[in-house]
Amino acid sequence: MTAILLLHGPNLNLLGTREPGVYGSKTLPDINAHVVAIAAKRGVEVRAVQSNHEGALIDALHEARNWADGVVFNPGAYTHTSIALRDAIAAVQLPVVEVHLSNVHAREEFRHKSMLAPVCVGQISGFGWRSYLLGLEAVLGYLSERDKK
Ligand code: DQA
Repeated sequence: MTAILLLHGPNLNLLGTREPGVYGSKTLPDINAHVVAIAAKRGVEVRAVQSNHEGALIDALHEARNWADGVVFNPGAYTHTSIALRDAIAAVQLPVVEVHLSNVHAREEFRHKSMLAPVCVGQISGFGWRSYLLGLEAVLGYLSERDKK
């Protein structure tokens, strides 16, 4: 069975109440349940993890080597700062799709740069909670193309 890690970084535990004009009103449990249900219909297992701590996110990526085929990752603000997460993504050799609820390119300049995107399969940004569904679709599409070869 294909298994995907759905990984969320700092402050995303506050979704629903955190700047709803920017991030929407769905809570993180709502989003996770939705992605898990859509994936289950396709016979795909999704396990969701959230942490506000860079090291815990790195540990989750390392552990994913033992069970996951790919990762959908919203790194929150670590997107723009974390060389350690970039190195972890490069190290684990799992396909990672970077996702953002907001369109980071339409926001402050410091959000335009992603430290992680160059080591990810690609980036999805700006579709609200549906960015996660698009991220799931993207990583599954990547895996099926790769496994055809
Ligand atoms: C975010 C965008 C980041 O710039 C921000 O720091 C977040 C959320 C998004 O999903 O739009 O925490 O990753």
